[in-house]
Amino acid sequence: MQNIQLRDGRSIPQVGFGTAAIGEMHQDDGYVKDTILKAIDAGYRHIDTASFYGNERSVGQAIAESRLQREQFFITTKVWDTQQGYQSTFKAMDESLERLQMDYVDLYLVHWPYPEKTRPTWQAMEKLHAEGIAKSLGLSNFRKQDIQQLFEIAEIKPVYNQIELHPYLTQKPLVEYCESKGIAVSCWSPLGSGSWSDVKAEDKPVAEKVINDMAEKYEVSTGQIILKWDIQQGRIVIPKSESEKHIAANLALDGFTLTDDELNAIDALNKDLCFGGDPDNAWQENLERPVP
Ligand SMILES: NC(=O)c1ccc[n+]([C@@H]2O[C@H](COP(=O)([O-])OP(=O)(O)OC[C@H]3O[C@@H](n4cnc5c(N)ncnc54)[C@H](OP(=O)(O)O)[C@@H]3O)[C@@H](O)[C@H]2O)c1
Repeated sequence: MQNIQLRDGRSIPQVGFGTAAIGEMHQDDGYVKDTILKAIDAGYRHIDTASFYGNERSVGQAIAESRLQREQFFITTKVWDTQQGYQSTFKAMDESLERLQMDYVDLYLVHWPYPEKTRPTWQAMEKLHAEGIAKSLGLSNFRKQDIQQLFEIAEIKPVYNQIELHPYLTQKPLVEYCESKGIAVSCWSPLGSGSWSDVKAEDKPVAEKVINDMAEKYEVSTGQIILKWDIQQGRIVIPKSESEKHIAANLALDGFTLTDDELNAIDALNKDLCFGGDPDNAWQENLERPVP
């Protein structure tokens, strides 16, 4: 699987392994570590975690046990809403590094926009970047207005925005805005949400006939069709899976190419349907949910 270059010159594998709620949300044990090790064995080198997922220890243990060099991995983690602020962001990073058993992360993200705290949080992140502790800086769930607010104060511009994006939520205006600012778009819940949500399989885009027809044509799975739709348009994806079959399939995207008509047909499935949190107000609820 190919890498793409972020605007700061660093390279990121376009397919990463999502780790939210492996087993249960906040589970951090041998099962989580073994699942991540399966992904590493399958070839994933880009792993997406967050302090809030409560599984940074398992990520660190899997990497330590993989016998690969730390430098071979691209590790992303995130500062949670309750940790935002100047001093508290340094503390959050110290705690993440301790759990990950690492001395740097490849990409550090503001997990959700919390406009009142954006300036001090970002200023702390810029210092962590200058110290080489956060190699790249990015955002998650930032809307256009949040990015505009950040650009007014940022000395170091974000290179990445991780947003909910799948065929039912294509976010075209935000994707175009990010691209115009040199911000790579990464899709969370690319297949339409994980086991942490109560969305039924038949209500997810993988059940769509148009996607099933393409899967039949190319002799791949519906999940692979959706991920290819992202990859061909230059987006990063971070699918999560606990099944060896899906873990392997989600990396095996090379042998087929969707036509422009097929890309457009998937775009046309958009319903502006958000399965996860709403960035307009998520921070208010998130403040009630501390890092485990
Ligand atoms: N920044 C944020 O606010 C935010 C929010 C949510 C998630 N995320 C990140 O995004 C990652 C992915 O999101 P997600 O876990 O919500 O959703 P997802 O990756 O879109 O979907 C995961 C679900 O799809 C199934 N699946 C995986 N591969 C499949 C395939 N090839 N075909 C059919 N089904 C497949 C998985 O089941 P099996 O385990 O059985 O394969 C699981 O139930 C998270 O792990 C996390 O790293 C970020």
